Amino acid sequence: MSKILPPGDQRRLDDLLSRFTDDAQHMIGYPGTHIIDFSPLAPFLEFFLNNIGDPYSASTFRLNTHEFEREVVTWFKQILRAGETDVRGYVTGGGTEGNMYGMYLARELLPGGIVYYSEDTHYSVAKILRMVNARSIMIKSRPDGEMDYDDLMRTLHLHRDVPPIIFANIGTTMRGAIDNLETIKTILKDLAIARSYIHADAALSGMILPFVDDPQPFGFDAGIDSIAISGHKMPGCPMPCGVVLARQAHIDRIARSVEYIGTSDMTVAGSRNGLTPLFLWYVIKTLGHEGFRDIIAECTAISDYAIAQFKAHGITAWRHKNSLTVVFPRQAENTLKKWQVATQGKDAHLITMPHVTRNHVDQFITDLVAATRKTETQKTAIPA
Ligand SMILES: Cc1ncc(COP(=O)(O)O)c(C=O)c1O
Repeated sequence: MSKILPPGDQRRLDDLLSRFTDDAQHMIGYPGTHIIDFSPLAPFLEFFLNNIGDPYSASTFRLNTHEFEREVVTWFKQILRAGETDVRGYVTGGGTEGNMYGMYLARELLPGGIVYYSEDTHYSVAKILRMVNARSIMIKSRPDGEMDYDDLMRTLHLHRDVPPIIFANIGTTMRGAIDNLETIKTILKDLAIARSYIHADAALSGMILPFVDDPQPFGFDAGIDSIAISGHKMPGCPMPCGVVLARQAHIDRIARSVEYIGTSDMTVAGSRNGLTPLFLWYVIKTLGHEGFRDIIAECTAISDYAIAQFKAHGITAWRHKNSLTVVFPRQAENTLKKWQVATQGKDAHLITMPHVTRNHVDQFITDLVAATRKTETQKTAIPA
């Protein structure tokens, strides 16, 4: 078997690399990023690594990174304010798996419970709710993307006999809105609801709020039962991954002993990526708490810079407190495509992830304004 790639295929790889080099310079609309050099981890590509099973139990299969995975979970436990609360978790394939895990735990704890989630919730959640066969009700969103608490209150009131499972957004996909956990808990208390479950979808903001001075409630100290974060968003892992954490008592309900792998399993998947925990561990050890504080402060300054630049060009743009998602009116479709800007309805957004510089913002707004002017000129041109 030849070990050398035929020249035609090598050329295709070279072309792909050059396309990625260019496209990465025009990516301001999605929450992926590139912060540090991961090449010191390249030697680990030589091994078949599989983190199958419970990262907290010894397994017959030893080519895993469970030890590093546990350290990653411990770090997240600390930034997510678990304190002395018994919380565990594992490294997932992404935010979606973490949300699925939260819904799975909630359904096991409250079988027959109703899941409440807002209109601005990530599209994958409806898919998850079908998979776990959960009864669910969509709650209205306010115009800024946060849950409409009056609608939540009214709807919960109608179903007071069924335990609620609240799917709270800690940073919505499109507008970065944060559902208020304190308000949600007050509503549950006012309605005298004794049994409930709160899952936090903190895909991006779970790695922002721990590093700002005045965060909205987001962690275990705010009464959540589980939380999911994406590892390829703010931590900048170059492949999809994530972290899910939950109260140990909920995890215990689903953990099963599996003879074949010689360990217990409390995860959703069978085989699990052994490299991603190493990448997350590496970024945490390299940057640490202080590194992320600095990064978030700079990203926030660039968000404000973007809003000011939009304003200077007569375009209204805004962001939620502690959010890096800058929302502006959808326009000039080709320019949005060029810069990989996400849209929904009348809104577009850019996200000032660590790789987005003031220079990117300037270039994008210049492109956007020029394209919008051109369209307007064409519209108003009087036919000869
Ligand atoms: C709020 C929110 N939840 C969940 C997800 C899904 O996360 P992932 O892409 O890591 O599966 C996203 C992705 O953008 C998101 O923005």
